[in-house]
Amino acid sequence: MDKPLLLVGYKGMLGTELMRILTESGTWTVPVDVDEMDVTSSEAVIETFANHRPSIVINASAFTDVDGCESKADAAHRVNALGPENLARAAADNGSVLVHVSTDYVFDGTKGIPYKEDDSMNPLGVYGQSKADGEKRVREIIPENHCIVRTQWLYGLHGKNFVDTIMRLAQSNDVLRIVNDQYGSPTYAPDLADALVKLVGMRGRGTFHVTNSGLTTWCDFARRIVERSSRRKVVVESMSTEELQRPAPRPLYGSIKVAKPSLKPFPA
Ligand SMILES: NC(=O)c1ccc[n+]([C@@H]2O[C@H](COP(=O)([O-])OP(=O)(O)OC[C@H]3O[C@@H](n4cnc5c(N)ncnc54)[C@H](OP(=O)(O)O)[C@@H]3O)[C@@H](O)[C@H]2O)c1
Repeated sequence: MDKPLLLVGYKGMLGTELMRILTESGTWTVPVDVDEMDVTSSEAVIETFANHRPSIVINASAFTDVDGCESKADAAHRVNALGPENLARAAADNGSVLVHVSTDYVFDGTKGIPYKEDDSMNPLGVYGQSKADGEKRVREIIPENHCIVRTQWLYGLHGKNFVDTIMRLAQSNDVLRIVNDQYGSPTYAPDLADALVKLVGMRGRGTFHVTNSGLTTWCDFARRIVERSSRRKVVVESMSTEELQRPAPRPLYGSIKVAKPSLKPFPA
């Protein structure tokens, strides 16, 4: 490549894995996170593009605290909608391709069968709304040169995630109560990062759903995590989303249909 790849949000769970893969493959990468380039600042984004003239931009930055978004709606919209808008404008002006990561939370989870890429978005909460707005702005501003990748239930080695939380709780609790009425596909961040880099290489354009295969509930996922990681006897009991009473509403059936490429299934 005669121009670099700009990796935005390289310190996050997904960004860390992307950075590892890009480094291992010798890809000329400029990594930035909020300290180097705040995506909510159009000036900062324009300056970064002027300095580096990237051919490809991968946006793994986001405000990902789903419940926190409900009380910080303005901040959520700035990072998840204005941020991608700023990146899309700069990418369009610079002739760059923008690869933007999004979520199954753009859907309301009432379809009952897996969502396809072209299904209508209907987010339930602030996080989903802000991510849906981000997607729309990317499509409008850079219609030909974008690749939007929706994923779900990410877990990995870096950053706060469900697997870590369950492993930690299992060390000091004999009983865990976990919701059993939300369905999704836990997706391993290194696998998603691998797929994203492959999509870049394949010149993927448009919208893609990328998850690991398999469908489960948070409760069954927690049981599997406890079985595999805990030496103590821990009982995982099921509860409903309604009982849990979290600030943000969640899609109950967030399964998204994977078109391509196929990924490794999560461990059986
Ligand atoms: N995690 C999931 O389960 C999940 C599910 C579906 C889709 N996704 C999507 O997957 C993508 C990656 O998620 P992730 O879990 O890897 O996220 P993450 O771990 O929260 O990482 C996001 C990164 O973006 C940075 N960031 C926040 N505000 C920024 C700003 N204004 N300018 C530049 N960088 C900023 C964060 O910095 P700070 O930490 O300092 O804020 C962090 O390093 C996101 O688009 C997310 O919506 C995630």
